[in-house]
Amino acid sequence: TPPRTIFSGIQPTGVPHLGNYLGALRQWVKLQDEASSDTTLIYSLVDLHAITIRQDPKQLRQWKKDSLAMLLAIGLDPQRSIIFHQSDVPAHAELMWILSCQASTGYLGRMTQWKDKTANEKDGSEKSKLGLFSYPVLQAADVLVHGATHVPVGHDQAQHLEFARQLANGFNEAYGKNVLMPPETLISPAKRIMSLTEPDKKMSKSHANPKSRILLTDSDDVIRSKIKSAVTDSYEGISYEPERRPGVSNLIDIFYHSGESVETESQVALAEHMAGLSLRALKEEVAMAVVEVIRPIRERYESFVRDEATLDAIAEEGARKAVASAAVTMTDVKRAVGL
Ligand code: ADP
Ligand code: NA
Repeated sequence: TPPRTIFSGIQPTGVPHLGNYLGALRQWVKLQDEASSDTTLIYSLVDLHAITIRQDPKQLRQWKKDSLAMLLAIGLDPQRSIIFHQSDVPAHAELMWILSCQASTGYLGRMTQWKDKTANEKDGSEKSKLGLFSYPVLQAADVLVHGATHVPVGHDQAQHLEFARQLANGFNEAYGKNVLMPPETLISPAKRIMSLTEPDKKMSKSHANPKSRILLTDSDDVIRSKIKSAVTDSYEGISYEPERRPGVSNLIDIFYHSGESVETESQVALAEHMAGLSLRALKEEVAMAVVEVIRPIRERYESFVRDEATLDAIAEEGARKAVASAAVTMTDVKRAVGL
């Protein structure tokens, strides 16, 4: 098999939550730990994406450090993976511009995430921002600038990856060369984790209610209390029916993906095993499993986040390597375009 380059990113807009971990970050670590020596792994804290929504500058700077500490805490190894802040590598924004000259505004307008993010606006103030609209073009640039062959993402990002492939193919056709590599999507095996308070919405950093998500920094007690107050329903017993019982099914999904030792083959089978439990007992089981997942991460995080000098050194080294990686593609792109 030809050498692989794996790329993925996360916004440094707060402490990552259980959905980020089960849906994406855990897979980043697995890919790293199972990678052969000719695989390049590149993971970015995508701060340029973060500013598509207005951020407090001081807060954002802090979150960037915290997020880097978290990537180390979950098990990314800077000796093995290139870990960097997106804005330290100007080629991301530069390639975005070049791709923007090819990208269809009609296609961008039909993206699900764009529609979701702008659907509830009262005054249209965000909708009018070009950066939020063209966000998928920057995502495409992130991946293509490093010649990524494989991109691990959650289900919510699959559409954006398809767009990146179309941009790559369109560019290659326009300039008659195989300059950009259309990447493969590695969809996370975990289902989308939903909000604990509004189980018809995905768990997200941006939801107002802090009880809607479990953070990777939450204490054991906070985890238990958030799960205890999770919205369920008044149907009898335990069953896995995401349409009819989104809250209970989300708890089963969380349990299913949290328990390394669970030997059941599906969520439905797992629900059948637990059919005799009360909702209260189900929540206790789920809380125990989640506490086991988060505790070691939280403990590692607490030691990394205090060591600012090490975090700065890792970010600098990651930026140096990512600049070099991006330069290879940019040389070919500029030559192809005539720049
Ligand atoms: P958020 O939506 O919370 O701001 P990001 O957009 O930074 O998170 O996403 C980082 C990664 O986490 C992406 O690969 C995304 O697919 C994944 N992800 C985000 N929310 C969830 C969720 N609720 N369930 C599963 N995966 C998720
Ligand atoms: Na998101």
